[in-house]
Amino acid sequence: MQDDHVIPEAHYREAADYIRSHTRQQPTIGLVLGSGLGPLIEAIEAPDVIDYADIPHWPHSTVQGHAGRLVIGQLEGRTVVAMQGRIHFYEGYTMAQVTLPVRVMKLLGVDTVILTNAAGGLNPAFSTGDIMLINDHINLPGITGTNPLIGPNLESFGPRFSIHTRMYNPALGKLAHRVAGANNLTLRDGIYVSLSGPTFETPAEVRMLRLLGGDSVGMSTAPEALVAYHTGMRVLGLSTITNMSIDSTETQEKVSHEDVLRLGRQIVPNLTLLLRGILRDMPPFDPEEMENGPHA
Ligand code: HPA
Repeated sequence: MQDDHVIPEAHYREAADYIRSHTRQQPTIGLVLGSGLGPLIEAIEAPDVIDYADIPHWPHSTVQGHAGRLVIGQLEGRTVVAMQGRIHFYEGYTMAQVTLPVRVMKLLGVDTVILTNAAGGLNPAFSTGDIMLINDHINLPGITGTNPLIGPNLESFGPRFSIHTRMYNPALGKLAHRVAGANNLTLRDGIYVSLSGPTFETPAEVRMLRLLGGDSVGMSTAPEALVAYHTGMRVLGLSTITNMSIDSTETQEKVSHEDVLRLGRQIVPNLTLLLRGILRDMPPFDPEEMENGPHA
């Protein structure tokens, strides 16, 4: 494991050059899948597969349930690049390393990222197996000093002080609801709380996160969303509720990573349906709509 908090611009470019030299396909949509959601990748047609270990400067995922491969191919007529295996802060990587893939995607020509995660349900109205559209996030590590954009700003990616008011793209959110409705899927709305992990929340923390306005909680997504939006990409975020958060010490219930993976696999068919519909109907990217990015 490396310990770089600041990644030189050349490293992003070398990673992108390596990927470009191993595929003729030019992805415009990036897909990052949460724990247990990896099987979705099998739907990608004509895949070019690149091991993370072969890409210069690319961190490797060490978590059970996350393979370590980049898959570039066709889904619903779109060229996508999918991360089969996500990089998490709790593995010991820096936030810069966790978000390196997003910047490399940008260099490959990706203008839209779809971020999915496995999450605990904070909102008592939710049920295990629900899918939630992320309308906004609370990035607790980010607002207390572990923001991925800390450090010298690379102007070629985006501005020093970027605006994140409409980070989760409202038009893509509406589209997600339309597709869910057309397929008889329930799609919740809510605020995702991002924590560092790897420990699950204590009941007192669960009650605190509810007071803060959180609807789902997990250990990813917010850093990637920040870096993607900073560099002028559209962001769509989806939480899959793999377990309900436990808010009392007076219970025998517990959360386990195995349960998260099992539930994740059960949600895959619905998530696949939703993502396929979104990809099929996604409106073209319009850089004029973006508040950030190198040309904003
Ligand atoms: N908390 C944090 N991360 C998670 C959870 C949870 O309850 N479920 C899946 N990822």
